[in-house]
Amino acid sequence: MIQLEFLVLACVLCLSSAFHPRVMAASSKYTCLKSTTETSNLYVASSRRTTYKTNLAKYLVDLHDSRATFDFCGGMMFEFALSDKLRSRLLEVAGSENASNQPVVADSSKRRMHQLEDYEKSAHADNISYFHGREIRNVPDAAGGRGFVLQLSDSVDDPEGWSAQEVSTYDGWGHDSGRQWRKTDDWESEGVKMREKFGESAFGLNHRFYLHYDDQDNFWLSAEDGCEGKAAEAKRRGYFQGLFN
Ligand SMILES: *[C@@H]1O[C@H](CO)[C@@H](O)[C@H](O)[C@H]1NC(C)=O
Ligand SMILES: *[C@@H]1O[C@H](CO)[C@@H](O)[C@H](O)[C@H]1NC(C)=O
Repeated sequence: MIQLEFLVLACVLCLSSAFHPRVMAASSKYTCLKSTTETSNLYVASSRRTTYKTNLAKYLVDLHDSRATFDFCGGMMFEFALSDKLRSRLLEVAGSENASNQPVVADSSKRRMHQLEDYEKSAHADNISYFHGREIRNVPDAAGGRGFVLQLSDSVDDPEGWSAQEVSTYDGWGHDSGRQWRKTDDWESEGVKMREKFGESAFGLNHRFYLHYDDQDNFWLSAEDGCEGKAAEAKRRGYFQGLFN
């Protein structure tokens, strides 16, 4: 409510967001200025194609900046997030004429990571076809309302990237029940910057990810263990909530 005066100036519609807890916590200004057109560019395949064409780096940055969501396993909404380092690298790629550093999105026949041509069981990421990432839970105010964040990070000198321990013990092709989950304190003690963005009580698991399409041209983010989600708008639980999600 503190920002109410500003909200009135920014846009009248945003008054309704004063009743939306997540928007209150996040950047009200940005959320206000987001239009429905932009939302369809993120989630509707044909609009995505028209808007971004081959500039997938720009698409990933916009997904992050819009706090877009991915639908894992039919309804588990994860907020998509990039580390600062990966975001700035992708932004550079997005503005460059050179397309060879653009993220690669596999075609619809590649439904599992092991189907990629150069696949091997390792912790290797090239920041183009293979990305380091994490599923992070118990995050206050995560878009999608479940406290879930899906973060991608850079594999070189990224303060938010995988710790040496995450790299050396990585076995993400196995079932996640046998894998080592970490808490904010664990990550921080291994030198990873997590507390600031994800809070004190977050916990999660590192995965390698790749990107692929399906037969309907939806955009998928898939972990090495086969768990995957497609870019999809979070379900609207109320009229005003949905408008600004
Ligand atoms: C484009 O980027 C690739 C990979 O970084 C590099 O090898 C190549 O020389 C670049 N091409 C141009 C024209 O700058
Ligand atoms: C990850 O991306 C960075 C930045 O483009 C690049 O320098 C690095 O070589 C990539 N990592 C690997 C393992 O290829």
